[in-house]
Parts: sequence; structure tokens; C-alpha cells
Amino acid sequence: MLNFTAFNPTRLHFGKGVLEKLGPEAARTGQKALIIIGKGSVKSNGILKKVTDSLDSNQLEWRLFEGVKSNPEYELADAAVEAAKLYGADMIIAVGGGSVIDTAKAVCAGVYVDHSVWEFYAGKGIQPKNALPLLVVLTLAATGTEMNRFTVLQDTENQHKRGWGHELLYPKISYLDPEFTYTVPANYTAYGVADMLAHTFELYFSTDPAPLSDAFATEVVKLGFQYGPQVINDGKNYQARANILWLSTIALNGSLQAGKRTGDFGVHSFEHVLSVLFDIPHGAGLSIVYPAWMKHFQNQIGHKLDVLAQTVLGPSAVGSDFIVALENFYDQIKTPKRLSDWGIGKDKHALILQTLEANKVKGAFFDMKSADYKAMLDLMA
Ligand code: NZQ
Ligand code: ZN
Repeated sequence: MLNFTAFNPTRLHFGKGVLEKLGPEAARTGQKALIIIGKGSVKSNGILKKVTDSLDSNQLEWRLFEGVKSNPEYELADAAVEAAKLYGADMIIAVGGGSVIDTAKAVCAGVYVDHSVWEFYAGKGIQPKNALPLLVVLTLAATGTEMNRFTVLQDTENQHKRGWGHELLYPKISYLDPEFTYTVPANYTAYGVADMLAHTFELYFSTDPAPLSDAFATEVVKLGFQYGPQVINDGKNYQARANILWLSTIALNGSLQAGKRTGDFGVHSFEHVLSVLFDIPHGAGLSIVYPAWMKHFQNQIGHKLDVLAQTVLGPSAVGSDFIVALENFYDQIKTPKRLSDWGIGKDKHALILQTLEANKVKGAFFDMKSADYKAMLDLMA
């Protein structure tokens, strides 16, 4: 086990009705909130109204910034920074899924600088010195951004999708009411489950030895296999929604990383290329790339794959059984397993290859070069 620092400053309220805490806590945080939302689901399902009612009844001022798209782009975050500056916001409230929250994180740091937020993502080592406090009302179980220090945005024109992290980006408070995820459609519910599993795999397959983190990870996968189909088949099953929501937070809030330098995240980097080229939802891209990655690196991950198979499937299972079970699971929850399932034909392989190379896609532990990209593309064709 390697040295590590455990640090997570996010206060997280979980369960039915937790939003009632928002108004009083926001009043202790600031006076003027810029509320950031996506394309409108939180208006139609009534969640935004609950948020604004709670601010109104605590005499707080607020203004709405709307329109964040799934696979969010830095240009809109820059526009939200301008809106926050003009308004004089002293806190940001994100109401939505990962795309909204990641944009809000960029805004929190962006209001203190004069350059585009993209500078933080561009890999130049530019770090914020300050950030506005962020309150999060999560509406979709997937990314873990509600309790971590990461944000992912894309520069669509130049075909880069990049993550970046800083301690100032942890949300101050996050509100997770499983009932708020009832209206997430079955497809995005499934992409969220696929993302949660992918975060767990990325950390689990890190080659740094950390037995407790690995034991947590295999249990997360086991519970994901149990509750995943339940949330798809019955979107209003509270226990299933609650379990998937908490698993999603745990998968990327540092709990599975103790004793490891990092996760691998090679599959995530590969998927970001699919997102930026084809605007495919993040979790859908991951369920295409992961089986191919496991098959391609099977010799190197053999022992860990066996342990994962035995925990999830039973004592007599071996690693290849897990890959088969994972593909069956994706079928069950209806996420794509091949590029062709998403209408991406072989004629696009050259473009994907070129963009993988331009972005120097690789994992922290499992290097990938041109030959690996080609072999994986064949496996996911
Ligand atoms: O735009 P709205 O109207 O809000 O609709 C959204 C969107 O269409 C909808 N939705 C969200 N909550 C809903 C709902 N519809 C009905 N009822 C609700 N309660 O769902 C769609 C997808 O939303 P989005 O926020 O894009 O999904 P997700 O939470 O999966 O976020 C994906 C983004 O997060 C990044 C991904 O790359 C992607 O850009 N990630 C962020 C990470 C992080 N910050 O730690 C880590 C992840 O690996 C990931 O990369
Ligand atoms: Zn992810």
C-alpha cells in the first residue's frame, strides 16, 4: 500500500427530502446565487422550482443560467463566467447531472481569472487561486462529480475533451435525493450505471497494491450488477435508485483510491475521443470501450480479472467469464457494446485513430500506442 492523503471536504446530504436543507445552508454561504442548469429537464420535473422556492423563502437572490449540453463545451462555461461576474454572484448552485456540475465547477474558478476557463483544462499547469463556493443538487447518478475535485469539458472544434482537478473544486455541499433521479430516462440511467462501473474498473485495475480499496471495488461492481437492471426495469424503485446513486458517488470520491497513486483511466481517455467526435453519451462510449480493453489487456490483468469474476459471479468463475458477464449486463441494461451499435462504421476508424494519436491517449498503468488502438478498434467494431 502506498502513502496517501485522505481528504474530502464535501458535505453530502443523502436521502428523501434532503433539499429542505438547501435554503438555510445557502443563506449561510452567500447572498446571490447563479443557478446553472442544463437543457430543461429540471424545469419540467419540478426540481428547479423546489430549489428556487427554498432560496426565496430564505430571502436569497438568484439568477438562472441555462443551456448546458450533455458533453459540455468550454465556450458555454465562459459565458456563464461572464454572467456570474456581471451579476456579482457569491455562490454557484448547480442543478443537474455531471455536465451541469462540471460546467459549474469551471465557473467557480473562472470568475477569479481573466482568461478562458479552457486554460485550466489545456494541460499547461494553470491552477486557480480561488473559487466561489459550489452547492450541488444532483439529478442523475453517474459521474461522482458531486463529491470529487474533477471537472471535464470539451473543446469540440479542436477535438479535445479533458478532465482537470483541484482541491478548490470540491462542492461545498451536495444534495442527493434518490427520488430526483426517478425521471432520468432509461437510456441515461443505463449510461450512468456504465460510467459508475467504469470508474470502479479504472481504479481497480491500477496496478498499485491496495487490498482494501480493491475489495471495496469488487463489491461496488457486485452491487452494480444487482441494482443496475432494477433501476432500468423500474425507474421508481427507491431502493434501487438510492443504491445506484450512492455507488456512483463512492466510485469516484476517493474511497476506491486509498493506497493507489491513481486509477488507470486509459478507457476514459479513449472514450473522450468518441465523445468529442460523435457526441456519444459518456457512459455509452465506456460500455463500448471497456470490453475491448479487457480483452486486449487480458494477459496483463488476468489475476485481478479472476478475483473480480469470483467476487461477482462465484468461486468457480475465471476472468474471461467476467468479460462475458459484463457484455451480458450491458445487453440487459441496453447500453451499446460495439461502435456499430451506435452507427459508427469501420469507415470512421481512421478518423478515430488519428484523434487518439493527436490526443496521445493512454492509461496511467497500461500504455497504448497505435497498434493497441488498432487492435482495440477491431475488437469494438
Ligand atoms: O440537460 P438536461 O435537461 O438537464 O437533461 C439531462 C441530459 O439530457 C438529463 N437529465 C439529468 N437529470 C435528469 C435528466 N433527465 C430527466 N430527469 C432528470 N432527473 O440527462 C442527460 C445527461 O445529463 P449529463 O449531465 O450529461 O449526464 P452525466 O451525469 O452522465 O454527465 C456526463 C458528463 O460528465 C463527465 C462526462 O465526460 C460527461 O461530460 N464526467 C465527469 C466526471 C467528473 N467530473 O468527475 C467523471 C466522469 O468520468 C465523466 O467524464
Ligand atoms: Zn466516467
